[in-house]
Formats: sequence, structure tokens, C-alpha cells
Amino acid sequence: MSAQILDGKAISADIRTQVKNRVDELRQAGHRAPGLVVVLVGENPASQVYVRNKRNACEQVGFHSELIEMSADTSQARLLDLIDELNMRDDVDGILVQLPLPPQIDEETVTERILPTKDVDGFHPYNVGRLALRMPLLRPCTPKGVMTMLSRTGVDLVGKDAVIIGQSNIVGRPMALELLMARCTITVCHSKTRDLEDKVRNADIVVAAVGVPRFVKGDWIKPGAIVIDVGINRLEDGTLCGDVDYEGCAAKADWITPVPGGVGPMTVATLLENTLQAAQLHAAD
Ligand code: GUN
Repeated sequence: MSAQILDGKAISADIRTQVKNRVDELRQAGHRAPGLVVVLVGENPASQVYVRNKRNACEQVGFHSELIEMSADTSQARLLDLIDELNMRDDVDGILVQLPLPPQIDEETVTERILPTKDVDGFHPYNVGRLALRMPLLRPCTPKGVMTMLSRTGVDLVGKDAVIIGQSNIVGRPMALELLMARCTITVCHSKTRDLEDKVRNADIVVAAVGVPRFVKGDWIKPGAIVIDVGINRLEDGTLCGDVDYEGCAAKADWITPVPGGVGPMTVATLLENTLQAAQLHAAD
């Protein structure tokens, strides 16, 4: 094994400390604590774990956090009414509606209802559009967290060939926009991509967000590449594994993220950064 590990746990701990220090300063200057409301509809077990992690992180840094749980049969109209109320509340800086939502609720309609300055997920078309135009405001957490990790390698990203596997709205697409803004050359692969393996073989940076355990094989990796694994897959024996074959890829890459302890904690830490940013936007209003 040759790759250096990009330790998401350690980097996210640094970010949490920075956010906590800033919150302490704000409080000492007489401002209220930044406030995040997390909305969970239904009882998806994975969502329950993610939401718990997000709320614990908020408490650690001194944010005010609220969890609103709604039953799985909640109507779209009720959820939209709740968002309208939260949009109007002065003590709420961030609104996060955990996805996926039950089938009777349209995710796009819900995402668009959140005020763009409270959209700490960065999923609103306004925020995605700003990222596409190289004038980002609130940026999607996972891709922004990946950019923070990449900056910690010290590697100059300009002109690098980046291959993203996955085209989701949450990861693949905004990841492409982030890497493009960092002046990489981008290839986004998906289920209809031809010769995916060849594309990965040419990549200086590989971001895997496919949701298939150990999809990316070690012999696809160009020597010296940076491998970012966004996947979190639970295997039948209960263990977690990513979308890349860790041992095989670590033997070829210069840098690699582990699972768990890689991108996952960065997503949560970036949500804290975004909530602080939203609070600062509202304080400046
Ligand atoms: N579901 C999976 N990832 C996310 C995320 O980053 N934000 C929200 N709101 N839902 C998710």
C-alpha cells in the first residue's frame, strides 16, 4: 500500500473546532447562536442515523438545533406549510429536509420552497445555478467537503483530469461543477457511459459516487491518482464498505479516502460551515 490517507475524521474535527470558535465569538459579541432545523419525514433507518449525526454535530459547536419529525403519510401541502413557517422564523438560519421523501411528496417542489439563503444543503436551483456560474453562495455539502479534502493534499488541481462516477443531484453534478470551478477537466460517468474503465484509467482524480460496493478496481487507477470514495454501502455481514476496492486502489493511488472516516464526516462538518455561513448572511441583512 502506497497511498496517503485523507483522514476525513481529522479534517472534519478541525472544521468543527473552527466553527465552534466562530460561534463562541458571535455569542460573545451578543449575537444569537446559529439555528438549524432538520425535518425528517417517515422512518427510513439510514436517514435516522444521518439526522442524529447532524444534530449531534450542531450541539457540539453550540448551534441551536431542532428536529421536526413527521409521519410517513404526511401530505406535501403540510410539509410545504411547515417550510413556509420556517422560512419566516428569524431564529432559523438553516432548513434541512432529509431526503429521500415518501412517494407522495415531490422532492423538487420541496427543495424549491426553502428560501435560498436558508438552503444549507445547497440543493435549491438558485444555489446550484450560482455554483454553475462560478459565483457560489451555499454549496452542496458533500462536494464542498470533498474540495476541502482535496485542498488538504496540497496538490495543484489546475488542469487535472477528474472523473466523477455518478450523476446525482446531491453528489455527481455539483461535484462536477466544483471541480470545473477549480479548473479541472471533467468527465462525468453514469450507467450509459461507454468504456468507463478507460476513462478512470486516465484520471488524476477519481470521485466514486455510484452506490455499488467496491465498484472501482485497483487496476483501473493511474499511478499517483487521488481517489475519493463517496460510497457508503452496508454489506450482508453488517460491515460498511465504499464504492472503491480500498486495498487495490490504495496500492496505486497517492491519496485515498477511507470508508468509514473519509467523506462521510466531511459532509456533516460542511453542513456546519454552511449553517454558520447562512447565519452570517442573515445577520448582515
Ligand atoms: N440524503 C442523503 N444525503 C443527503 C444530504 O446531504 N442532505 C439531505 N437533505 N438529504 C440527504
